[in-house]
Amino acid sequence: MNDLALFFGRFHPTFLHLPIGMLLIAFVMEIFSQFKSFQHLRYAVNFVLFFGAITSIITALMGYFLAEEGGYDDNLLLLHKWLGIGTALMAILLFLLRWAFRNNSNLTFSKTYLSLWVILLFTLTLAGHYGGSLTHGEAYLTEYMPQPLKKWAGITTVAKKKREKPADIQEALVFEDVILPILEKKCVGCHNPEKKKGDLIMADAENFIKGGEHGAIFKAGNAKESGIYISVTLPRTDEFAMPPEGKEPMTEDETKILAWWINEGADFKKKVNELKVSEDIAKILGINEAIPSAKPSIPDVLPTLNAQSAESPIIESIKKLKIDINPIASNSPFLQVKLNQDITEEKLDALQKIAEQITWLDLKRSNITDNQLNKIKNFKNLTELRLEQTGITDKGVKSLETLTNLQYLNLYGSKVSDNGLKSLEKLPHLRSVYLWQTAVTPNGVSELQKSKPLLRIDIGLDRTILDSASAKK
Ligand code: HEC
Repeated sequence: MNDLALFFGRFHPTFLHLPIGMLLIAFVMEIFSQFKSFQHLRYAVNFVLFFGAITSIITALMGYFLAEEGGYDDNLLLLHKWLGIGTALMAILLFLLRWAFRNNSNLTFSKTYLSLWVILLFTLTLAGHYGGSLTHGEAYLTEYMPQPLKKWAGITTVAKKKREKPADIQEALVFEDVILPILEKKCVGCHNPEKKKGDLIMADAENFIKGGEHGAIFKAGNAKESGIYISVTLPRTDEFAMPPEGKEPMTEDETKILAWWINEGADFKKKVNELKVSEDIAKILGINEAIPSAKPSIPDVLPTLNAQSAESPIIESIKKLKIDINPIASNSPFLQVKLNQDITEEKLDALQKIAEQITWLDLKRSNITDNQLNKIKNFKNLTELRLEQTGITDKGVKSLETLTNLQYLNLYGSKVSDNGLKSLEKLPHLRSVYLWQTAVTPNGVSELQKSKPLLRIDIGLDRTILDSASAKK
């Protein structure tokens, strides 16, 4: 296909309004000419119809060239194409008929003539509708239709929840607020539901996870082996470099952010302050100081665990108790639970029903007691537990000894002392523990470090960031 044809093709969406307008006005003139006071219009119908037919043919040709560019939904395109060709043919037929019988006044409302008009209007409307769907997506027209009308028309749409973007970058969702906007700027133009080049849509998390014609485009934890990262870092002259030549490539900062997110586990739910932020990344994100806290990304032990997904009625019933429950990732059976106030026996008992699924539990700043903590000791898949700024003592920490999958434990601002650290030695997978502003002594900490050399112990003497970040929550 040569450039001239492509150039010509691009005018299809603009030019098509001409035949639509002309054919419609020809029809309206024909109807009105039946009334005495508009009789004179009869003589102009042929003229308008002629140009309607000519411009229909030109539009169809342009459409043909535009389609050659590719990237459209095949089925929709086929429908649109034949409806468009049909419309052009009908317009020609109508004109010829009208011309041949131009002196026959009976013709105007003869059955054949009228039914041809009905067919033309029908194909014209449908062609227009499918054409619109091709460029804007199928739900474009009805997206803002009033709800009662939608119901009546049997259109079900999932109302798009418009989420307020957080003012604080620390609170921003890494994928949705940081990565997605970059993709929207540089990639989504060709990788969207209507123009899925390489069979890849990057307009939302779900499709991003699905990947393209060659499968997944990222490998969590490994940017260098992720198709998307490779494609944006290839030399610009490489034929697989993305975006293709001529389009604005990602900046170095943008590729760094992408690599950071993938290397930190490619999590779709986490906020900036939940990932490890190096100084480099912090600078790009506009964060003044790096956050020194690394929380485990989706823990690597989890996939080998065998939790069944909690039945959703169970989860719904627990949510009614004002407990915040969410899957840690879409399609994951594992749950994150937040319970920051008014902890009661009833709530803790309810959580027993999903004990196996809970993998992140957030009890920070709550009134949880040592005795109550005993109730979570059978949460065997718990990998992350937040108990900062609670009244938990060594006694409570002792009941955590059964949590063999625990990787992250935050005890900042609790009453734990050196004795409690002995319990932590029993946790085989523990990777980070936070002990700032507790009763532990440097001695106790070094004892713990000795028995667990790989454990990251944070006594956070100069850490103000995490504190201020959690104060905002
Ligand atoms: C001008 C259109 C265009 C833009 C913009 C664009 N792409 Fe592409 N992309 C394509 C085409 C065409 C293909 C298919 C290439 C092929 O099959 O050889 C493709 C394929 C891909 C693939 C391979 C998918 C698979 O499974 O085969 C990846 C990954 C990709 N693009 C990433 C990106 C990223 C990341 C961006 C933004 C930085 C981007 N693309 C921007 C046109 C585009």
